Amino acid sequence: MAHTVAELRQALPREGVGFVPTMGYLHRGHLALVERARKENPFVVVSIFVNPLQFGPGEDYHRYPRDLERDQALLEEAGVDLLFAPSVEEMYPAGYSTRVSVEGPLTALWEGAVRPGHFQGVATVVARLFLLVRPDRAYFGEKDYQQLLVIRKMVRDMGFPLEVVGVPTVREEDGLALSSRNVYLSPERRKEATVLYRALQAMREAALKGEGVAEALRRGEEVLKEVPQFQPDYLAIVHPETLLPLSRFVPGARGIVAGRFPEVRLIDNLEVYP
Ligand code: PAJ
Repeated sequence: MAHTVAELRQALPREGVGFVPTMGYLHRGHLALVERARKENPFVVVSIFVNPLQFGPGEDYHRYPRDLERDQALLEEAGVDLLFAPSVEEMYPAGYSTRVSVEGPLTALWEGAVRPGHFQGVATVVARLFLLVRPDRAYFGEKDYQQLLVIRKMVRDMGFPLEVVGVPTVREEDGLALSSRNVYLSPERRKEATVLYRALQAMREAALKGEGVAEALRRGEEVLKEVPQFQPDYLAIVHPETLLPLSRFVPGARGIVAGRFPEVRLIDNLEVYP
């Protein structure tokens, strides 16, 4: 394990690096990224860093679940070559003041609208990690679909010499997308939390039956209404690359949903039209 930039530099090979950035409290979703990275790269680096820049005031930075020892054991078992777990001071030393910001609708919409500054925090830490780790390939989950697109855009715009690989969402048997934040769910809430996936599926089924976007959205909204404790931030059917709302289905159209239970905010997405 490397805690400092100097330790990281010493341990890195010159080439063949696959990189999986995370905030830790690892689950099978993270491990799917690691597995994919292992298949495609001789040397795999995972970072664990709960990035304060991407949390807004009043969000869960301080209570975000952390367990470095358990994570380290999981990563060793998964055959990861190097774990980089820097402190906040190592990533952002006193006086650090640079930000990376992807502009435009891609970051203004959806998560960007609900969480101002979030994607700037993500882009800043990921750009800094890319420069420190210098990976050939970097792995991101479709679970955070908008984040994946923002990182792709940043890499293209800035010319980072690496390939961004998107990995499908890993789900529980009942459809709930795995998330570190699922630990906040009580057993009762855990059952209600499938409402996001059920709404997405209802939209997909409507689309496959030949119904239009407006009708599919209505189906999804009906499902969300079944769980009054869930306060939706948005439910939409969007273009898979621009994330702009669609009025007609296009191939790869994406259903996206996010909202709040009293103890936790959840997001999910699904391809709703093949
Ligand atoms: P974190 O939420 O820890 O997620 C790390 C990576 O795991 C992200 O690419 C995320 O999309 C992916 N992931 C999470 N749950 C998943 C699931 N159920 N199936 C597949 N992949 C899943 O996302 C972040 O951290 C941070 O924003 C980060 C990119 C590390 C920057 O701080």
